[in-house]
Amino acid sequence: MDQATKRIAAHFTGQTRFVDDIDKPANTLFGYIVKSEIAYGKIESINIKQAKTVEGVCAILSWRDIPGKNSMGAVFDDEPVLAEDYVEFIGQAVLLIAAESKKAAVEAASRVEIVIKEMNPLLDIEESFAKKRFPFDPLHIVSGDVNSGFKNSDFVIEGELNIGGQEHFYLETNGAISIPKADGTLLVYSSTQNPSENQLIISHALNIESSKIEVVTDVIGGGFGGKETQSNWCAVWSSLLAVNCNRPVSMVLDRREDMLITGKRHPVKVNYKAGFNKNGRINSYSSRFLFDVGFSADLSRSIIERALLHLDNSYYIPAVKSDLYPCQTNRSSNTAFRGFGAPQAIAVIEYIMDEISGKTGIDQAEVRRRNLYGKRVRNRAPYGQMIKDNILGDLYSELMDSSDYRERVKQIKEFNSRSQWKKRGISVVPVKFGISFTTTFLNQGAALVNLYKDGSLALHQGGVEMGQGLYDKIIEIASREFGIVKEAVRICSTNTMVIPNTSATAASTGSDINGHAIKLAIDSLKERLTAFASNLYGIDIADLVWENSTVYSRKKADVRHPLPELIQKAYLARVSLSEQAYYKTPGIHFDREISRGEPFYYYVCGISMSEVEVDFLTGSHTVQRTDIVHDAGESIDPLIDKGQIEGAFIQCLGWTTMEELIYNDKGLLLTAGPDSYKIPGIADIPKEFRISLYKYNPFKDGILKSRAVGEPPFIYGLSVWLAIKQAICSFNSGHLPLDLPATKERILNSAYSYEE
Ligand code: MTE
Ligand code: HPA
Ligand code: MOS
Repeated sequence: MDQATKRIAAHFTGQTRFVDDIDKPANTLFGYIVKSEIAYGKIESINIKQAKTVEGVCAILSWRDIPGKNSMGAVFDDEPVLAEDYVEFIGQAVLLIAAESKKAAVEAASRVEIVIKEMNPLLDIEESFAKKRFPFDPLHIVSGDVNSGFKNSDFVIEGELNIGGQEHFYLETNGAISIPKADGTLLVYSSTQNPSENQLIISHALNIESSKIEVVTDVIGGGFGGKETQSNWCAVWSSLLAVNCNRPVSMVLDRREDMLITGKRHPVKVNYKAGFNKNGRINSYSSRFLFDVGFSADLSRSIIERALLHLDNSYYIPAVKSDLYPCQTNRSSNTAFRGFGAPQAIAVIEYIMDEISGKTGIDQAEVRRRNLYGKRVRNRAPYGQMIKDNILGDLYSELMDSSDYRERVKQIKEFNSRSQWKKRGISVVPVKFGISFTTTFLNQGAALVNLYKDGSLALHQGGVEMGQGLYDKIIEIASREFGIVKEAVRICSTNTMVIPNTSATAASTGSDINGHAIKLAIDSLKERLTAFASNLYGIDIADLVWENSTVYSRKKADVRHPLPELIQKAYLARVSLSEQAYYKTPGIHFDREISRGEPFYYYVCGISMSEVEVDFLTGSHTVQRTDIVHDAGESIDPLIDKGQIEGAFIQCLGWTTMEELIYNDKGLLLTAGPDSYKIPGIADIPKEFRISLYKYNPFKDGILKSRAVGEPPFIYGLSVWLAIKQAICSFNSGHLPLDLPATKERILNSAYSYEE
């Protein structure tokens, strides 16, 4: 069995070692945070006398004990490692404790006396907006003239949509183990999407150079964006304690802590206005987005920027104007989550498509078709990028045919006319998702490949495996390009000492950026060995074939030389067996000041259709069938890509129909555990789930002609929400607002209230 297969087998049998499963040195201490129980207030006094008397307590640290900078903000310096004068959300870290056992640490924490003068927390985004509590400048985009667009429209609609947040619910919570070494360096095992940033933030807090901090990340139990920046926290906290005590410190959050203190997907309140014609075509779209960013900026600027770049989804809109405001609140800091702002923006335009269908009486799928970007005209996005290689129309046709749409619409009408309490609805949702970090400089990666004398190959690259199949794709790329059997290839943990200055594994770019770097390194290594092999075996370079760990001439395919033999000989002849490479995504740029540019290397497109049945006595629903046609290019591993599509769809179904974050009026998250926060389970999978991979995208410059897959399919889950909306319309024949998530309560409320 090759390493990739063994890894997957181990993963599915629960043998993958997450941070908390690593064998710790015998003298490892338990790290713990003392958290604020108040959402907003001034710290008046802290008394740790009683806490220090607890047996086994080794250190209790406040911000005054931080040797370097008291800041762990990823982009802005607005996020203290430990609270100084003020606390700004419930769960904020005030003190750190290291103790011999968890029991001792928890006991000590309970004896800490913190006096906080409580102040009124800011919890409402409208209020935050009115007070202009923006941690950074709002974002704007204008393209075309929206006012004349409205004037020239047959219909103009206005509305408000409230979109909820979402907890990441990765299998493995945030955690890190920090081990001080005798030479003053630090070894940190971290569950992170971003080892290089962990390293940098630790170096700032400890006031030592990055080169002295080695962050190692093996397979993590999911990240979904939640470990892009906020994994910095445990890494920094455990490191501060470890250096202070000069002993290893392990700090792994339990589920409640993780849910309480880490940020979520941004809740958004949107006011929109859209003008369109009787033929269903949209002319003009203006909107105001209020993003609940939480207490600090974190990645919110980039997230709001990606929302701005996805206001259009797959549709050509002649005139667009949008103002997007970052509204500070006294809650944990909202952060990256699969889709990175795009899902909220796309939800709005899809909602509008549904409204257009309702007002014009044109079928919802047909409305969408009429608005899709064109191939030669109507093909420029509001921010100026041309939509090249546009396959949206092809995807649409394929879905319509393979799903038997027309016939099913008839059947649904028929069903709904017969059934009083159960109604069915169907909805189509396409996606066009921009691939690249919009922060252009992040689009870079590096790799190191090492051959050993026995002919086996080790790969190092900057990406993190979080369940998305990155390692398997990287191994596949190396094995195919080098012509070596997978059994002889190993991929190593991500390590900041081997591949420096990496970007987060995020923006769905992991396999593309790191895969390209691996390919470049393999190409150079192979080129050097090709010259050597050509000499050694007397084969023309043009005729040399590398395949299945053998080298041969295509003119004499029966004489094959084993790769290990070639490598051994190359070593003896003093040919270097190691190669490093660097890759940056070509041709992208974006001007933030004017919201114009070509921020994306390419777009991943696709289209989904879901049919639901809603029970109007209970508010519950089932997904009868979902069809997806997804733009996968020449997939490196179709099973992995299908898994990503299924997972992303279900994750969005959770966001849009059941996952609800509820806070009390003091700002305490009441749904901080699986007992009160419901994520989808096995029974929520569509009864029929048909996914097909579309291979024919003309753009072939993705790694091995593949395409990014991680985030775009998240959007497909919106089809369930809008199918529910359609079912409600059949029930009460009105078009009423349906906020997101469409929980049972919301469905019933929308079903039994009538427009006057
Ligand atoms: N799939 C699994 N199983 N676990 C994850 O944490 N994260 C998603 C997606 N798929 C995630 C996942 C997110 S948010 C991103 S950006 C991509 O994977 C990152 O990996 P990639 O760039 O290698 O696709
Ligand atoms: N996506 C995900 N993470 C990011 C991005 C992005 O576009 N920009 C900065 N971090
Ligand atoms: Mo994904 S939200 O870009 O980690």
